[in-house]
Amino acid sequence: MAIIAPSLLASNFLRLEEECKMLNESQADWFHLDVMDGRFVPNISFGLPVIEQIRKATTKVCDVHLMIEEPEKFTEAFRKAGADRLTVHLEACRHLHRNIQQIKQLGMQAAVALNPHSPVELLNDILQDLDMVLIMSVNPGFGGQSFIPHTFQKIRNLKKMIHERGLPTLIQIDGGVTTENAGSILRAGADVLVAGSNVFRSADPKATIKALKNAV
Ligand code: DX5
Ligand code: ZN
Repeated sequence: MAIIAPSLLASNFLRLEEECKMLNESQADWFHLDVMDGRFVPNISFGLPVIEQIRKATTKVCDVHLMIEEPEKFTEAFRKAGADRLTVHLEACRHLHRNIQQIKQLGMQAAVALNPHSPVELLNDILQDLDMVLIMSVNPGFGGQSFIPHTFQKIRNLKKMIHERGLPTLIQIDGGVTTENAGSILRAGADVLVAGSNVFRSADPKATIKALKNAV
């Protein structure tokens, strides 16, 4: 069964406590938290103080997706704020291997995210060190965009690399995931689905999460 990670970026920030409660009661596995710095991506979202509060509102896994430059400067701060898993972008890291080791030494699960233009083959020499790869299926920075179809091929290629080496690495897909395309994304080889607007803009978010969870 897929791991479902709703993205709080699409939630109502005025009602954050209730949104967290809804996710706690739902079949969501992880809370996906999108941090944007206005430099790596052309948008600014939320940061450490907000994550600290969300941490207090759930015992579920806090999966933090850093869309920021120089993420190594903030690794420890995000750990302290409550992150269980930390994802950094390949395109934002000059010393990716060092950054991944730093995340793991702090006791978090480590992942690398790839923008739509970055081939999965760029992970050839780091894959064995990763707990997860996040394949962006839209250009990062905004919720509510459409899924880029070429992502299917990237998922299949990455799945093959992981399978051939017998690794336990998870594949996470982020951007434009809906109850309609979830099945095909999972069949291509994904393990974790991030969904923002599809969940929070739906009439019954818990039912939408359930539908994503049961997609095959
Ligand atoms: C985009 C973020 C995503 C976003 C997904 O930069 O990384 O997590 O919130 O939103 P939807 O599901 O609406 O595409
Ligand atoms: Zn994200």
